[in-house]
Amino acid sequence: MSPPGTLFRSTGKGALPEDLTERREKRVYKIKEKVSLAHDVHSMIVEAPYIAKKALPGQFVILRYGEAGERIPLTIADSDPDDGTITLVFQEVGKSTMVLGGLSAGDSLDDVVGPLGVPSHIEKLGMVVCIGGGIGIAPVHPVARALKEAGNRVVSILGSRTKDLLIMEEEMVKASTEVLLCTDDGSYGKKGFVTTVLEELIEKGEPIDQVVAIGPVPMMEAVSKLTKPYAIKTLVSLNPIMVDGTGMCGACRVTVGGETKFVCVDGPDFDGHLVDFNELRLRQRMYLKEEREAIEAITYVGA
Ligand code: FAD
Ligand code: FES
Ligand code: MG
Repeated sequence: MSPPGTLFRSTGKGALPEDLTERREKRVYKIKEKVSLAHDVHSMIVEAPYIAKKALPGQFVILRYGEAGERIPLTIADSDPDDGTITLVFQEVGKSTMVLGGLSAGDSLDDVVGPLGVPSHIEKLGMVVCIGGGIGIAPVHPVARALKEAGNRVVSILGSRTKDLLIMEEEMVKASTEVLLCTDDGSYGKKGFVTTVLEELIEKGEPIDQVVAIGPVPMMEAVSKLTKPYAIKTLVSLNPIMVDGTGMCGACRVTVGGETKFVCVDGPDFDGHLVDFNELRLRQRMYLKEEREAIEAITYVGA
């Protein structure tokens, strides 16, 4: 055993233990492929063999680019253990995701930590409706696929503001038994929100055993409000601000059924009928001023 104070530091040779030094040198999270899926939405295939081997639907990573880079949580949209890669799909919404959007195949990320979070619960229930709103289609994809593989009839409802923003339709067709599309402006699929389509399914008397909804907070809240009077179990994947991702900083605190939960270790999936969405919304906006300043700063430098 190492003497006190030497853990992770000196080995007596004034260096890191040999295997650790070697691992450090080899630890490169190379971007193997990067494609644009829609305006400001990208898909990135990243070399991360240890994560690819263990990742399960519903889990996420926290990555960092650059020495002083922010930690960015992103859901593992897909993984290929044989290829040693994971797929991340992200939208440019602020400084860090804009920087990420500027990277190309061949570039490397500094850290990718994961898989984090509790995997989604997958079991044969009968009929499951999987709802993906906007960028939420990417995280719902592995869940829909696993539910279908478990023998469920998976009806997926995909929604976006307009046709050009609707991503991963082809992948979702493969992952589901049936796909229903909608856009806010009616440019593709049904005109309306995902709740419009879900309400129609409920009113038709479809035997829905569970709903899984992933997307913006107002969408997940609206879906949960709709299903509650029908007592249809509804799982939502929460996305509060995260820092460490291991339950230690408290940044991702949410209230579920009156209890405090940390999304990074207790979630991200929770019963939508019990989530305090109002608190989540307020906490997500905590650093709005700093986030705006960060964007203005890069715009100024780039001008
Ligand atoms: P900023 O301008 O800093 O922030 C814009 C907004 O993003 C903020 O108002 C805040 O609500 C949110 N945000 C900012 N920092 C964080 C943070 N550290 N953690 C969480 N939210 C933050 N986005 C995707 O596009 N694809 C995904 O697959 C995806 N999966 C996620 C999974 C989890 C478990 C969580 C918690 C978040 C996920 N997100 C995903 C959201 C993504 O992490 C944020 O959009 C990103 O961190 C914003 O960083 P920014 O600097 O570009 O934006
Ligand atoms: Fe720190 Fe969850 S991100 S406790
Ligand atoms: Mg940021």
